[in-house]
Amino acid sequence: MKRVVNFQENDPANEAEWQFKDTKTENKKQKHNKKNEKFNAKTKRLSHADFVKKKEEMLAFRKQLPIYTGRDAIIQCLKENDTVIVMGETGSGKTTQIPQFLVEAGLASKDMGGVAVTQPRRVAAVNLAKRVAEETMTRLGSKVGYTVRFDDTSSPQTIIKYLTDGMLLREILSDELLLRYKVIVLDEAHERTLRTDMLFGMIKKIQKIRLEKHAEGGESIQPLKIVIMSATLDAEKFSEFFNNAKILYVSGRLYPVDTMFTVEPQADYLDACLVSIFQIHINNPRGDILVFLPGQDAIESLTALVSEYSAQLRPQQQRLLACPLFAALPPSQQQKVFDPAPENTRKVILSTNIAETSITIPGIKYVIDCGLAKLRGFNPKIGVESLLLHPISKSSAWQRTGRAGREAAGVCYRLYTEGAFRELEDDTVPEIRRCNLASAVLSLKATGINNILEFDYMDRPSRASLVRALEELYALGAIDDKGDLSDLGKQMAEFPLDPTYSKVLIQSKEYGCSLEVIAIISLLSVDSIFFTPSDKREQASEARKKFLHPDGDHLTLLNVLKSYWEVKGDIEWCKENFINNRNIKIALEVRDQLVRFCERIDMNANSTCGSDTDNILKCFLTGFFQNTALLQPDGSYKSVAGSQLVKIHPGSAMFGKRVEGIVYNELVFTTKHYVRGVSAIQSAWLPLAAPKYFNNFQQQQQTPQRIFHPQVAYPIMSNIMPSERTQGVFSTY
Ligand code: CDP
Ligand code: MG
Repeated sequence: MKRVVNFQENDPANEAEWQFKDTKTENKKQKHNKKNEKFNAKTKRLSHADFVKKKEEMLAFRKQLPIYTGRDAIIQCLKENDTVIVMGETGSGKTTQIPQFLVEAGLASKDMGGVAVTQPRRVAAVNLAKRVAEETMTRLGSKVGYTVRFDDTSSPQTIIKYLTDGMLLREILSDELLLRYKVIVLDEAHERTLRTDMLFGMIKKIQKIRLEKHAEGGESIQPLKIVIMSATLDAEKFSEFFNNAKILYVSGRLYPVDTMFTVEPQADYLDACLVSIFQIHINNPRGDILVFLPGQDAIESLTALVSEYSAQLRPQQQRLLACPLFAALPPSQQQKVFDPAPENTRKVILSTNIAETSITIPGIKYVIDCGLAKLRGFNPKIGVESLLLHPISKSSAWQRTGRAGREAAGVCYRLYTEGAFRELEDDTVPEIRRCNLASAVLSLKATGINNILEFDYMDRPSRASLVRALEELYALGAIDDKGDLSDLGKQMAEFPLDPTYSKVLIQSKEYGCSLEVIAIISLLSVDSIFFTPSDKREQASEARKKFLHPDGDHLTLLNVLKSYWEVKGDIEWCKENFINNRNIKIALEVRDQLVRFCERIDMNANSTCGSDTDNILKCFLTGFFQNTALLQPDGSYKSVAGSQLVKIHPGSAMFGKRVEGIVYNELVFTTKHYVRGVSAIQSAWLPLAAPKYFNNFQQQQQTPQRIFHPQVAYPIMSNIMPSERTQGVFSTY
């Protein structure tokens, strides 16, 4: 079978075709234990001479970064201005160097307050902290540390802290003027994540208050410095928002990149990626390949395919090593991406848009861009948030292209036509304009910002989406009729979880099943506790059968954990049963932390319902009542909110089953609307779980079908629906 993706004529990869062999040869495992000695040296064990040598090496590395030539000018500008916008090509050294410059120039210190650097993604925060700890020759967690959800390596000694934007938002809850920091660096600002956008408004306000208090003679209150960093060129907009802040442009180093488009649209992007990878591998000179894919599923499938087909390469050919990269990947595997490829091997890195701007991978010469990304979006048709496959924007496409020209000239293969490229949006729509705002609104209210309609947004979300968020929080019981945070809402804001999850967790007290609910939430917080090697799918699915609970995935997870505890986490047992030992361990750490949060609100985290497991599912419904679907006479399931046909994901314990109703964790749209994390429920449980949502259930009980179209009659709705009459009411939110 011969397959080929046709790129434009001058494409070197077009000259030959890559032939798929029909016979399978055994996949030879590549042994490459060579560590990246250059950067992974354990500084603790170095002799003095080695220490000095390594320090010099690090400094020499720093000095050759494009940003270093502008060091003095940057420091001068940071000294003179309270807010600075820094724009610069990915890889120029913004994220790793600017925090060090700030400390070296005495603009931040342990006494004055340190530097917080936000990242939209936890992988990036962890990775960057490790890198900067190495560059400063200090132990991670001392001078340089990171804080991400459920993992904190910072200490009172920490001066440079990398943290996710979500964690900085949480810190505002306990330190409302963020006094522990002298400088806040909001990095990757162009990504416009929901949380970064919220931080823009909050930090701007905090800066103003601190300046006022400082001017009033509050010597103990230092003015706050703000640095906004971004890789794309919308600097004026950021500057305007931050009172015409000074803009610094860091010139990057970018070699020419040839850009190729496909001649025809590609029906199957995964197949097109696979073929392109091998076309490049067979025909093009050395250099690693970076493939941008929309999500973990696609990355895992393609990793398996590349490994399978690369085993068929002729012995004299260069080897091909597939390295996946996505947020949920265990750190040990992430490292593979950064380590140099073993001898006579080309690396192909399969990544989500993590590698677009936040992480720099050395050695990339070829980029394959499938043109898609998975974006969080609110689907008004079905009334719930879901992950949707979406064409990327032009600016994302250029960022992806740029990754091929970091160290030398490169080539970018776009798996879409030039016409399709012209149709792309210029920029990605900010998350705040497209996703569910319930969590954001809860955080704003918890930090004392009541008037969420008037908040200082860089891009104002639509009033309808804010109203919807208020409705959802009202249905969850987090806010009262007046829009004020309820006691439950205050408790919900304490947990580092989405409002739906924190509601379920807190309600578990009433249902007497906190032990089970906390365990399940923790297990859901990690990627997957099951381990499915691509060459042993059948055995893995067979092994999984013994854990399956007839009521679905939530209780199946619990079964796994119970068995895991019985064998005391035995590693051999995990291997035999295809259980991901590492992920269970992470989940148990998460569990410990959630238990500590429970203690903070005086909640008993040990209540258990024993064998009465219905209570657990009823409890999940108190948060997930909108993520429910009911069986139709023809055997399909229709969502309660929005009457959308949904299919149970084949990986679910409920796949192929017919039950009265289902509750699910998430809805993913690929070719169909799939629901994942599914359990069986009874429709009679719905009004009890969310009386405010299903408030007219009683009167409709005679005609059960109609229950499925809840008529939401919120008292606050009439108050806050946009209309002239009610303008005055807005000020209370
Ligand atoms: O933020 P920006 O994209 O401008 O660059 P950076 O993240 O500060 O990275 C600057 C350089 O440091 C990269 O080009 C890499 O060569 C290097 N680096 C690294 O070797 N390992 C890391 N974990 C991070 C950066
Ligand atoms: Mg950066």
